[in-house]
Amino acid sequence: MTSAPYGLLAELTHRCPLHCLYCSNPLELQAREREMGTEDWLRVIREAADLGVVQVHFSGGEPLLRPDLAELITEARGCELYTNLITSGLGFTEQRAKSLVEAGLNSVQLSVQGENAEASELVAATKRFDKKQEAARIIAAAGLPLNMNVVLHRLNLDRLDSIIDVCREWGAERLELANTQYYGWGLLNRDVLLPSREQLAAAEQVYRRRKAELAGTMELLWILPDYYEPFPKPCMGGWAATALTVAPDGGVYPCPVAADIDTLEFPSAMEHPLDWIWAKSPAFEAFRGTDWMPDPCRSCSRKEIDFGGCRCQAFALTGDASRTDPVCTYSPDHHLIQDAVDKANAPRPTPPEPVYRRVTTSTR
Ligand code: SF4
Ligand code: FES
Repeated sequence: MTSAPYGLLAELTHRCPLHCLYCSNPLELQAREREMGTEDWLRVIREAADLGVVQVHFSGGEPLLRPDLAELITEARGCELYTNLITSGLGFTEQRAKSLVEAGLNSVQLSVQGENAEASELVAATKRFDKKQEAARIIAAAGLPLNMNVVLHRLNLDRLDSIIDVCREWGAERLELANTQYYGWGLLNRDVLLPSREQLAAAEQVYRRRKAELAGTMELLWILPDYYEPFPKPCMGGWAATALTVAPDGGVYPCPVAADIDTLEFPSAMEHPLDWIWAKSPAFEAFRGTDWMPDPCRSCSRKEIDFGGCRCQAFALTGDASRTDPVCTYSPDHHLIQDAVDKANAPRPTPPEPVYRRVTTSTR
């Protein structure tokens, strides 16, 4: 029997005031007209609770752009779900914070792109660093635990010490240092973002030193840069094993990136109940467990450890979501990773041009 998912990522909207180079939203962003209405989101939250979900992460895009956010949080809390808001902080006013706290919001994860306005603008193409600082103040003043997140890459790894200082100054209790994952916009910008081996090793030293220094005051977490690892990450704890994502239009996926896998037909919460989607839909069943695995995973002793790596990465790099994640040293496609790493470590006379996340008007 399939065990229940632990978490629901509710992507309320793809609209966002930032244009980050590494955005994990699909390349084809959904326009506002395609977003599910409040009643459908309330139903999805109830269905998730019935299914056994215990945590809801309200995300986007920027979830603060949804005027019904407090109503959705109230519903989730009424269903005894833990609620977390993942936000850029833009649009976080005192009034808004008050309404979210009254709704029962449990925690906030605030993203930062760099240690100052200039560094932030280089990544997000938006001049709003001061608003982020203001959001951090409002979140802390509202009595909400402040968790922060920074995506690390070639353009900011050298300044990790200063980034940690800023997050500490703003009152973060926990800081996630997430090395970029190369899907979607991140893959499009891989040549811009992939660091050199030397740069990464220096940043990891900084992380270790600061983690020890800050123990007991701010928790630091280091999310591994998988291009430099011998084996892939156990992405999402395995396909359709621990969590599900509901996209703005009601599309349901085993992870936030899977919408780009166009060889699978993903179900919609507008057409099917979540319990059927989770337990029975062909897209969720496709790579569940280990029976689907080809060699080398099929006969590998690590198959219950990393589950063959990431299906989205396998698809993005090979066009076949069932192949072994090319990050793996044993993968027949490992040269795809090695080539990118070699390029990142070679001299570059001209830096590659960044492609900023753009909102499309697609209504597909
Ligand atoms: Fe993991 Fe497959 Fe590589 Fe083995 S062969 S380490 S299971 S990805
Ligand atoms: Fe989708 Fe890894 S990001 S399975």
